[in-house]
Amino acid sequence: MTSRRVFLTGALAAPFVRRSAAKTGYSFAEIERMLERGDIRGRLSKDDLPTPALLLDLDAFEANVAKMARYLKERHRGFRPHGKTHKCSEIAKYLIRAGANGACAAKLSEAEVFARDGVSGILITTPVVGRHKIPRAVRLATRHPDTIFSVDNAANVHDLNDAAAAAKIQLNLAVDLWIGRRTGVPPGEPALGLARLIESLPNVRLAGIQAYSGPASHTVGFENRKRVSEEAMLQAVETRWLFEKHGIPCPLLSGGSTGTYNIDSEIEGVTELQPGSFIFMDLDYNRIGGRDGGEFRDFANSLTVLTTVISRPADDIAIVDGGLKAFSTDKPFVPVAKNLEGVTYSWAGDEHGRLDLSGPARSLKLGDRVEFIVPHCDPSVNLYDRIFCLRGERVETAWKITARGMSQ
Ligand SMILES: Cc1ncc(COP(=O)(O)O)c(C=O)c1O
Repeated sequence: MTSRRVFLTGALAAPFVRRSAAKTGYSFAEIERMLERGDIRGRLSKDDLPTPALLLDLDAFEANVAKMARYLKERHRGFRPHGKTHKCSEIAKYLIRAGANGACAAKLSEAEVFARDGVSGILITTPVVGRHKIPRAVRLATRHPDTIFSVDNAANVHDLNDAAAAAKIQLNLAVDLWIGRRTGVPPGEPALGLARLIESLPNVRLAGIQAYSGPASHTVGFENRKRVSEEAMLQAVETRWLFEKHGIPCPLLSGGSTGTYNIDSEIEGVTELQPGSFIFMDLDYNRIGGRDGGEFRDFANSLTVLTTVISRPADDIAIVDGGLKAFSTDKPFVPVAKNLEGVTYSWAGDEHGRLDLSGPARSLKLGDRVEFIVPHCDPSVNLYDRIFCLRGERVETAWKITARGMSQ
């Protein structure tokens, strides 16, 4: 570790680079031991962290969670935030303490980790299909009977029913609707057919409807987004009423996202929302546009990646130790330096980022730290074992990304 650090100043338009004088002097091995023992509380500062490191601004994170929980409570909507964003059991439990009904999980293996760590009310939003997965689903439901599985296919429903019968349990199923561009049975009559099948089988029961529209969540411009999301979610609501009209109780309609939280929560018949990114935010979400125009800033950017300048090949170029293995993205834009002007990032490979420098940023030195807001939060978090939770400059705790890599 080098002794010089960039301390990023509070104002976005910070005109100069400041360096910290303080250094606690822990060695890399000492920090690793502290992390293993889980006793870092209050002992480390941001300056101590080996890079690249994933950081969480706790004040911003807590404010994001409180804001979403309050907003949905005031509108009498449930809240089952999506765990695919954080993949962290501690965060899932934090959200439940803040009022969430449980946690969504994208994959079975993610759900297994959350359940093992004491997360209740899990809704797996991707169908669980095939001989490798179904026995695991049954094992999970045996131990955690409140787990809900999404289905969009009759043969899969039969397979789940048969496996549940062999284990002498009943599985909760949600009919997954094709209102986006991923999975799901078409809304209306095809969905009703699947609900009827579920009702007719002894070892599965209908929990409700799963309805997520990816295209709606990232539609740029509030009015456009509202139109796309309402079109999608109204089909889900009509399908819910269709079930009820045919005597099939459907108490749950779960869907929505960070981008549509203030749209879907106004739609009668949507019982709960499943946003994920709002806890962290990212550049992709900032650019979709807020209700009053400008950037979407209803929630603060609490997630960053801390990097170190490891090379200064020219006056106006610095290389940091964060490339594609530090920021994963499918977006056509790059990380943005937090609170430091005159820095333009470009990908320089798996391990490196190139910074083109202007103005005061030219004073960056080897060993200085530069912190970046990520283009896309979910896949970036999945690159790290831990997230360091900061209160100001102090590391208050570190949470394990327990479901990191759990994509099966
Ligand atoms: C099924 C489902 N629900 C909810 C979400 C949450 O979306 P966001 O992170 O945009 O809030 C996602 C994200 O991809 C999703 O796949």
